Amino acid sequence: MKSLSLLAIILALAACQGAEVAEKFAAQSRSVDSIIVDTLEKVKVQMVKGWPQYGIPPLAPFEIEHKEFDLDAGSMHAKGAVDGLAVHGLNEFEVRVMNTNLILSRLKFEFNFASLNVTTQYKADVGANYRMARDGGAFMALEDLNISGHIKYSTGIVGSNNFLRIKEINVNVVTGNVVSNIENLSKYRILNKKINEIIEEFINLTINDNTEFFADWLDSTVTPICNDLIGERTIKDIIDIITGA
Ligand SMILES: *[C@@H]1O[C@H](CO)[C@@H](O)[C@H](O)[C@H]1NC(C)=O
Ligand SMILES: *[C@@H]1O[C@H](CO)[C@@H](O)[C@H](O)[C@H]1NC(C)=O
Ligand SMILES: *[C@@H]1O[C@H](CO)[C@@H](O)[C@H](O)[C@H]1NC(C)=O
Ligand SMILES: *[C@@H]1O[C@H](CO)[C@@H](O)[C@H](O)[C@H]1NC(C)=O
Repeated sequence: MKSLSLLAIILALAACQGAEVAEKFAAQSRSVDSIIVDTLEKVKVQMVKGWPQYGIPPLAPFEIEHKEFDLDAGSMHAKGAVDGLAVHGLNEFEVRVMNTNLILSRLKFEFNFASLNVTTQYKADVGANYRMARDGGAFMALEDLNISGHIKYSTGIVGSNNFLRIKEINVNVVTGNVVSNIENLSKYRILNKKINEIIEEFINLTINDNTEFFADWLDSTVTPICNDLIGERTIKDIIDIITGA
């Protein structure tokens, strides 16, 4: 979530930097787009180290040494821990669309992640009416993940401060394929495969069937957070933060 909102901020900011330029040169949308793409390329590189001075750990890969979980989904209960969890591919996205319209103060984008995946070891007590102890390795991936949408922004009232304000964030997330490969959910190979298929279907539906819900949630939640984070920083301050300068 943090990385997603960071990305949104980067996009908005890069667009805004362009907007300043465009006040003088109306037809520079295309160069704005290349500023954004350049900034994103720097972000990809910086993701390897993270932004420790702002409390953002390395994101490529993003690693969690140990985390306990306690999931309660009605009659199903799972309590346990993951160890050595790593998220791969956060920095391996392709910018397929980056299109700024300076007149409409709108930025359209589309990113594609070929594979965003998680590997981990897990231990769990899974219980319905009975308890089962489980442990093993787990791999999960979202493949051909498209994140597209637009951001509308304003650059402040002429004559006052040029603080950026994000007015609307619209994001659609669609995944082409989901892979779940969790070992030892059942000691029977065939049943284990079946359970993983159910998980795949569940994740696929959760992502692909809730795009509107997610978009609304993101807009109402993340927009104010972005504006809070931006605060009263100048565009240059924030570009420096993002590029790790
Ligand atoms: C996991 O994601 C990374 C980055 O996208 C990719 O290079 C790697 O092949 C993926 N792993 C698997 C097993 O698909
Ligand atoms: C992602 O977008 C590309 C076009 O940019 C399209 O070819 C592909 O089918 C999309 N994938 C999904 C899962 O919608
Ligand atoms: C977990 O599954 C793997 C691969 O299917 C197997 O090699 C291993 O023995 C299993 N571990 C346990 C504790 O059942
Ligand atoms: C994933 O969900 C979409 C939309 O609900 C559906 O069209 C598609 O067939 C599903 N794919 C898989 C692999 O289940």
